[in-house]
Amino acid sequence: MREEFPILHEIVYLDSAATTQKPTSVIKSIEQAYKRSANVHRSAHRLARENTASFEDARNTVASFIGCNREEVVFTSGTTHGINLIAQTIPLTPKSIIICSELEHHANFVIWQQRAKQVGCTIKYIRVKNNGLDYEHAKELISQGCSVLAITHLSNVTGAVTDVTLLSSLVKKQGGLVIVDGAQAVAHLPVNVHDLGIDAYAFGAHKLYGPTGIGALFIRSSLAKTLPPFLYGGEMIEHVSVTETTFAQPPSRFEAGTPAIVQSIGFKAAIDWFTKNYSHSREQEIYAYVKKMLSTLPKIRIFTHPTSIACLSFVIEGVHVDDICAFLDSQNIAIRSGHHCTQPLHTSLGIPSSLRVSLGIYSTKEDIDACFLALQEAIQVLS
Ligand code: ALA
Repeated sequence: MREEFPILHEIVYLDSAATTQKPTSVIKSIEQAYKRSANVHRSAHRLARENTASFEDARNTVASFIGCNREEVVFTSGTTHGINLIAQTIPLTPKSIIICSELEHHANFVIWQQRAKQVGCTIKYIRVKNNGLDYEHAKELISQGCSVLAITHLSNVTGAVTDVTLLSSLVKKQGGLVIVDGAQAVAHLPVNVHDLGIDAYAFGAHKLYGPTGIGALFIRSSLAKTLPPFLYGGEMIEHVSVTETTFAQPPSRFEAGTPAIVQSIGFKAAIDWFTKNYSHSREQEIYAYVKKMLSTLPKIRIFTHPTSIACLSFVIEGVHVDDICAFLDSQNIAIRSGHHCTQPLHTSLGIPSSLRVSLGIYSTKEDIDACFLALQEAIQVLS
């Protein structure tokens, strides 16, 4: 399978949480789609009909991948777009209570903070404990009332997995909505949005071996029907006159303008490829290996949680994270340094930034060995 990723002959790539490499089958599907350009849901000629069918087929694939109906899948430009869409369309009042967490990526944090300011409602943040959510704090906050819980399914920093089913059952007792950031989780966990008992789930294709510029937002159909449009324009309408516009049913209501047609075809190819090739047990073995190897390094502080999968972060006492990253880069090893778009989490961990190793379907123990040796050398040279 690694032969589908020629770049892996040149570099050790341990930054799949930022974006994954794309297999040749996905790249070919994109190339083919660009050679047969036509808009969808508009013209009636053959090429346009074929592309419309492919676009809607991609929706079917996404729906079965996350266990929902096709009408519940809205194509977006990615996770951030999906979360913004839902945050800006659900009804909020000054009496609303939004619950978010300190573990969140900024994509699932800043918009809620801003919405709370706009509406004048309360926002509370679940604390972090042992690099994951503090569930006692979560229970306490939710029991005081919750209109919306916005939560990550899998931390992009510590790899902690959220018990979404538990939290959603608590929120439902309060009559609230549960919105989940699935950006990282979809590439590492089986996801069935109805089993999770949630109202919306956002993710992108590019962390799932697919193209950038497209993602999907699941919105529970009974909720979607009640929401107003997010963006206005072509294809999201039912009827337009100079005095009034009525809007299409979901998902079209939320898909104004020409969609990411080619990307939708690449998205489908990526899901098909991923479903065929992914092995959670193999990934878990490599994850256990990286955790074990890194823990033997001197001066290291590792941030993981007992539930963690797929990625972990760490700091090396007395050495700047960017220096370590640059040192590894000089040996063609790609890891990430910085705050990983999670400043509140880093603040709660008491550090400004960290280094992160994240796994993809193509990661091997040899990749980890190379990273380990380079880190060992970096610590010697830089400290
Ligand atoms: N959200 C991506 C990451 O964590 C970009 O690296």
